[in-house]
Amino acid sequence: MTADRPLLDIKGLTVQFPSPNGFLTVVDDVSFSVGRNDIVCIVGESGSGKSVTTQAAVGLVQPKGGRVTAGSAMFDGQELIGASNRTLNRIRGNDIGFIFQEPMSSLNPAYTVGEQIAEVVRRHRGASRKEAWATAVQALDRVHIASAATRAEAYPHQFSGGMRQRVMIAMAIACGPKLLIADEPTTALDVTIQARILEVLKELQQELGMSVLFITHDLGVVAEIARSVVVMYGAQVVESAPAAQLFAAPRHPYTRGLLEAMPQVALERGHDPIAIPGTVAQAHAWPKGCRFNPRCIYRQDGPCTTGSMPLTAEGAGLLRCAVRPDLSQGVGAL
Ligand SMILES: Nc1ncnc2c1ncn2[C@@H]1O[C@H](COP(=O)(O)OP(=O)(O)OP(=O)(O)O)[C@@H](O)[C@H]1O
Ligand SMILES: [Mg+2]
Repeated sequence: MTADRPLLDIKGLTVQFPSPNGFLTVVDDVSFSVGRNDIVCIVGESGSGKSVTTQAAVGLVQPKGGRVTAGSAMFDGQELIGASNRTLNRIRGNDIGFIFQEPMSSLNPAYTVGEQIAEVVRRHRGASRKEAWATAVQALDRVHIASAATRAEAYPHQFSGGMRQRVMIAMAIACGPKLLIADEPTTALDVTIQARILEVLKELQQELGMSVLFITHDLGVVAEIARSVVVMYGAQVVESAPAAQLFAAPRHPYTRGLLEAMPQVALERGHDPIAIPGTVAQAHAWPKGCRFNPRCIYRQDGPCTTGSMPLTAEGAGLLRCAVRPDLSQGVGAL
């Protein structure tokens, strides 16, 4: 029974933040799910609501002044929206591990990495010092930090950027989470190191049988790692689909635009990446109808520019588009 149930099921999640002009909706009716042993990527340009969606699901927007005005986030059968701080604290760190985009969870320069990971294990698992240290070393070993027992005694500044990111992953997986939420974990790294980190994440996902919810604005990264993809634009999901389907036959003009902006795709086709024209829609002035319509070459006045655009079933995925242009010619390269 539980095996059929998604591990994380987000439905209609809506989040607002205060602004000088009142509350703005920065996550609007977002729905998607993450299965067991699954790797789901959320992709979209900066400000589309990727981080806030996942933070809201685990109770991390209220401390920043945000509020969840609608929706549900069921994790392993338990509702997280409105759950007590005690419950959320227990789930975060134990069942859900995080690697954050923001440096808020970055490493403390004053303690060795082993001490910091062991502290997390002690706090969440109630392990003894000795057990917690052994778990920390094991976690560092899992992310392929050589001589883990010795390196556990080193301080964060003694690691390179890529190695520090491995330490962050080790900390996030040390308690054996069912779900790892990784928010742009490789964005600051160069391409070769990024590729190694993605390999480590894929390997861990299989070894530990956990699921990964991976946030990125880079479709190249999505192609490397995702089983299914959620594309966000203007606080909404505009398309979601199994990764193979999304890359072979994108349905939303925005998804297509993201693909054509990829350097890998442009290189294969022998031209420069094609940037999506115009600027990203903003929460204080969402366009009427489809929020992408001012930037869309397929826009039709009327269907695309009035009312609000529903998200409807499309093959094995979901699509928010009135025109549904024929984009069936695959983008290739991937
Ligand atoms: N603490 C906050 N207070 C007010 N507004 C916020 C806060 N955090 C995020 N927002 C707003 O919510 C919207 C969505 O932000 P979010 O961080 O989820 O974007 P994102 O898709 O993760 O972008 P990026 O790729 O830059 O990380 C943005 O318009 C942002 O300005
Ligand atoms: Mg973000």
